[in-house]
Amino acid sequence: MVSWIRVLLLFSCLLPGMVEPGMVRRYKFNVVMRNTTRLCSSKPVVTVNGLFPGPNIYAREGDTMLIKVVNNVNYNMSIHWHGIRQLTTGWADGPAYITQCPIQPRQSYTYNFTIIEQRGTLLWHAHILWLRATIHGAIVILPKVGVPFPFPQPHEEVVMVLGEWWKSDVEAVIDEAMSMGMAPNVSDAHTINGHPGPLSNCQGQGGFELAALPGKTYLLRIINAALNEELFFKIAGHKLRVVEVDATYVKPFDADTILVAPGQTTNALLTTNLDIGRYLIVASPFVDSPIRIDNTTATATLHYAGTAASTTTVLTDPPPHNATAIATNFTNSLHSLNSAAYPCKVPLKVDHSLLFTISLGVNQCTSCAKGIRVVADINNVTFKMPHISLLNAHFFKIAGVFTDDFPGNPPMPYDYTGKRQPANLKTTEGTRLYRVAYNSTVQIVLQGTGMIFPENHPIHLHGSNFFVVGKGMGNYDPNKDQKNFNLVDPVERNTIAVPGGGWVAIRFRADNPGVWFLHCHLEIHTSWGLKMAFLVENGKGPNESLLPPPKDLPKC
Ligand SMILES: *[C@@H]1O[C@H](CO)[C@@H](O)[C@H](O)[C@H]1NC(C)=O
Ligand SMILES: *[C@@H]1O[C@H](CO)[C@@H](O)[C@H](O)[C@H]1NC(C)=O
Ligand SMILES: *[C@@H]1O[C@H](CO)[C@@H](O)[C@H](O)[C@H]1NC(C)=O
Ligand SMILES: *[C@@H]1O[C@H](CO)[C@@H](O)[C@H](O)[C@H]1NC(C)=O
Ligand SMILES: *[C@@H]1O[C@H](CO)[C@@H](O)[C@H](O)[C@H]1NC(C)=O
Ligand SMILES: *[C@@H]1O[C@H](CO)[C@@H](O)[C@H](O)[C@H]1NC(C)=O
Ligand SMILES: *[C@@H]1O[C@H](CO)[C@@H](O)[C@H](O)[C@H]1NC(C)=O
Ligand SMILES: *[C@@H]1O[C@H](CO)[C@@H](O)[C@H](O)[C@H]1NC(C)=O
Ligand SMILES: *[C@@H]1O[C@H](CO)[C@@H](O)[C@H](O)[C@H]1NC(C)=O
Ligand SMILES: *[C@@H]1O[C@H](CO)[C@@H](O)[C@H](O)[C@H]1NC(C)=O
Repeated sequence: MVSWIRVLLLFSCLLPGMVEPGMVRRYKFNVVMRNTTRLCSSKPVVTVNGLFPGPNIYAREGDTMLIKVVNNVNYNMSIHWHGIRQLTTGWADGPAYITQCPIQPRQSYTYNFTIIEQRGTLLWHAHILWLRATIHGAIVILPKVGVPFPFPQPHEEVVMVLGEWWKSDVEAVIDEAMSMGMAPNVSDAHTINGHPGPLSNCQGQGGFELAALPGKTYLLRIINAALNEELFFKIAGHKLRVVEVDATYVKPFDADTILVAPGQTTNALLTTNLDIGRYLIVASPFVDSPIRIDNTTATATLHYAGTAASTTTVLTDPPPHNATAIATNFTNSLHSLNSAAYPCKVPLKVDHSLLFTISLGVNQCTSCAKGIRVVADINNVTFKMPHISLLNAHFFKIAGVFTDDFPGNPPMPYDYTGKRQPANLKTTEGTRLYRVAYNSTVQIVLQGTGMIFPENHPIHLHGSNFFVVGKGMGNYDPNKDQKNFNLVDPVERNTIAVPGGGWVAIRFRADNPGVWFLHCHLEIHTSWGLKMAFLVENGKGPNESLLPPPKDLPKC
């Protein structure tokens, strides 16, 4: 244990600038219960190494990561390296029952993967049950040695992890919701680096302090690790210069407020060019549909060195939770950098053109209090979790676990975003995958619907980034909308928020053999079944086939 900690410390001391490229980095994640006292409640929570948020992991592009997860709690566990492509190493992706069986209590598993052509900020998190509420942390990938950022070198880098906190045990919250068939209790606080901050009514204290020197530039690596809420983030008086999202560089632009959906990351430059003082940092929800939300604002402080003790903090108000215009303006400002060094490789030709309706609705439920349960679906399929991993079933050709007939279009077209949609969906259940050949190109129009009411859905794809080539309100119209697609510098990311009552078109090249999950990153929607998976076949050349599973891969 001690030697592992030394190894960890050594790596953090070496960074940045001193390590060799392509090195092997070892981390140990010890999953343990830990009592917390600094938040709204004093209770034991599941943690990695006793930390909340969990440890940040550091790497350089080209490095191989060996992360040994030892499960010392009574929950099953699995960890997802969100946004890491996992080229040919799907066994290390992490979603339980998709690419692996869970790491059961007292078992361990070493995630082994190489970071290929990626650099920037990502996150890791538990991908089983609701455990990612407390099991999450940053992945910081520096460019290769000698390769500068495509923006001015910051004085310092600061990780800002945004989260959501329940006073109750999160597993009790989701279990209660699932057995009642209703929406779960909302969280009790939002957090910035694990603290709700001084303005919350949580017990304790000061909140996270970002200590800064005047006249310098800081690179903030902002991560939304919340379960169910997209978050606005702003700093009183200061502009944030956005330079990267989801570990891909973007054309820099200045914003007062940024928006980060669960699973997304944003790198922004902060220049400390105002009067010496203290400035409030806020993180607050963006929700523009009529649902119950946790409307608390997490606060932290930007603290310039040399601020007199008597100086009062400069405050700022968060945007209203339904500030759709601010959210839309932010997402419309994002474009790939598309430079010679970082070209935008958007597929121009499409092999599979898919339309996925993203819906919530209700099904009959005899055991539920009101006789109905809330469900979610894509193209009328509510995903049913298998009992062994899909990747296992695919690799070893085990029949009866899944079918590869996921519908590429809605089975029964209707006015998706029209005002009066029958809430009673009667969805079908199934473990259905969509199969594509190696290196084929896929376009998916993610179509929001008005079932129950329109709601925003941050959709995450595993195994590949995608390009966001189009976006609009209402129903997608192929004749009209395709003409306006951006095929020059669309933003490239791994998670995209589909606006409530609108659609988003994404494209990706299926050059990563394996089984890859696609799901809403609002955890409650995933729990309700808003998920499916792609099966990408092996190619013929070298490095075009899924590797065999590692020896310590957990068994079901
Ligand atoms: C947490 O605190 C409770 C009582 O306050 C104690 O019984 C329990 O052992 C503690 N758990 C851990 C993991 O420290
Ligand atoms: C990690 O995986 C690679 C194959 O991708 C393999 O060569 C290597 O031996 C593995 N390392 C460990 C420690 O299992
Ligand atoms: C959810 O909230 C209700 C009402 O406040 C409360 O009675 C219930 O105990 C909560 N459930 C959990 C699991 O905390
Ligand atoms: C936040 O929600 C609570 C409970 O729903 C409500 O009483 C309060 O007025 C809301 N606050 C704001 C600022 O919207
Ligand atoms: C936002 O919500 C407030 C109440 O919280 C409401 O008064 C206002 O009309 C809403 N704005 C929009 C644009 O829906
Ligand atoms: C919209 O975003 C641009 C940056 O792309 C910014 O200059 C402008 O102030 C924003 N407008 C609003 C209303 O937020
Ligand atoms: C979903 O499928 C069920 C069962 O076939 C059918 O009754 C229902 O109308 C379908 N709903 C939609 C929106 O396609
Ligand atoms: C994938 O397809 C593209 C476009 O057709 C082609 O340029 C590329 O060489 C292909 N890659 C592989 C590995 O087959
Ligand atoms: C296959 O991958 C290995 C390891 O990433 C690399 O060294 C080798 O050059 C690749 N081979 C080809 C033909 O791309
Ligand atoms: C943990 O996972 C195993 C393998 O899938 C399963 O048999 C067991 O029921 C799970 N345990 C719990 C507590 O969910």
